[in-house]
Amino acid sequence: MLIKKINELREYIRPYKANNETLGLVPTMGALHNGHLSLIKAAKEKCDRVVVSVFVNPIQFGPNEDYNKYPRTLKADYELCMKNGVDAVFSPSPEEMYGAGFILSNDNLTYVCPPYNFTDKLCGKSRVGHFDGVCTVVNKLFNIVQPDFAFFGEKDAQQLIIIKKMVKDLNIPIEIIGCPIVRETGGLALSSRNKYLSENGKKEALLLSKILQNIKKCYKQGIINVDLLKETAFSFLNNNVELEYLEIYDSDTLEEKQEADDNSRAFIACRVEGVRLIDNIKLGE
Ligand code: PAF
Repeated sequence: MLIKKINELREYIRPYKANNETLGLVPTMGALHNGHLSLIKAAKEKCDRVVVSVFVNPIQFGPNEDYNKYPRTLKADYELCMKNGVDAVFSPSPEEMYGAGFILSNDNLTYVCPPYNFTDKLCGKSRVGHFDGVCTVVNKLFNIVQPDFAFFGEKDAQQLIIIKKMVKDLNIPIEIIGCPIVRETGGLALSSRNKYLSENGKKEALLLSKILQNIKKCYKQGIINVDLLKETAFSFLNNNVELEYLEIYDSDTLEEKQEADDNSRAFIACRVEGVRLIDNIKLGE
């Protein structure tokens, strides 16, 4: 079932809620790939009913980012969801979510703003306001769908950590389930943005996972100094890959430490053919 209106979604979930059936939400921006399917599978295993939201959220894109060009493939996404046992796809318009003639600014909209210590680094550094937009829309989706469980991919690890923090800080009665990164053969983490890459670009992009794998290997061999671990990346880099960041932080708090431990995570962002790609790996797993 495809639902575009908030009140229709509320009507739809009412009998399931009354029946005490567990509800899982998989929030997405569409252009679904196997990474999303792994979230759907996890949701199906854990919940009686599964709702997938498909909404390209304007307030999480910066003015120079790819909001207009972000792939929109609702028909294919809907068919894929139905084929995979999803109960309902919720795909509202921006007007439905933010009001007719919406003007998106802090002057007009109540935002949910995660703490600075979680957003002043990694993707938050170059994408100022991005996580305010993410937390705001995720909160709205939580209030609309009222799931018991919500499923997010570990590829966007900073997003997952921030959403867990928001849920804890705001006492939101929803359990957040993080699901492992799904990779192509060769190691490239699946992302809707991989569509923008040429075949050659995809080969160049393998560098991200190679750098992360090597850092993990070095950690397992006994190197724990974070600067030394980061330096191991230099020999991999070339002119086709523009490094935005490579950092090692705590997996739960995003704190910076001088010595890595099993809960440390290496995070990387690079541009390949102008496409911004991110990846991460937990060192202790
Ligand atoms: O990860 C995404 O696709 C988006 O950031 C999310 C969580 C659906 C919010 O728009």
